[in-house]
Amino acid sequence: MKFFIDTADINEIKEAASYGLLDGVTTNPTLVARTGKKFRQVLEEICAIVDGPISAEVTAVDYETMRREAEELASIHPNIVVKIPLILEGLKCVRWCSEHDIDTNVTLCFSPTQALLAAKAGATYISPFVGRLDDIAHEGMEMVRQIIEIYDAYDYETEVLVASVRHPLHVLDAARMGADVCTMPLSVIAQLVKHPLTDLGLARFLEDAKKVPR
Ligand code: E4P
Repeated sequence: MKFFIDTADINEIKEAASYGLLDGVTTNPTLVARTGKKFRQVLEEICAIVDGPISAEVTAVDYETMRREAEELASIHPNIVVKIPLILEGLKCVRWCSEHDIDTNVTLCFSPTQALLAAKAGATYISPFVGRLDDIAHEGMEMVRQIIEIYDAYDYETEVLVASVRHPLHVLDAARMGADVCTMPLSVIAQLVKHPLTDLGLARFLEDAKKVPR
């Protein structure tokens, strides 16, 4: 499973990249707004750090403007993946992008049938938002399971990118289901490595190592 970081914060991206486990980056308008920087500057900085897919979201909601935005974003760097909302105008833009060799990440997916439409439109990635579904008492990971079932049944090439990840259990479930990608905040990446028995065991080994003549 590929690991993407879900942030536009350059320091967090540098930190995650330094672990050697990072395959790509997802951003959204909210995350970019938090940086206080210009959109293009943020994207150029990220592209200079990570050599992998970097999602950059369009802000138009009509096909023509979205298409122009998609072209503009894709021209910034070959690694840019154009993030497009799961609305009808968006799906038209996804189809156009797939016919013009522009990678897409269809975002704000909250149902398996929406994901089916994205795959039919030729999306490169589909982003089911699991945390936001959990927030309203629907099982986010059950949506992912059904998406994978449908994509497998028809051999769709669209990659399942589990998004809106809040904790390590989402990552565990995504990996067990065979999701292609999981995008997560730096805090979740850090949580994955922690285990109290590892810390306890290491402390004991380090103490005992002091007793061994070198
Ligand atoms: C995905 O690409 C989105 O940027 C993100 O995962 C949304 O997460 P949130 O629900 O925590 O805002």
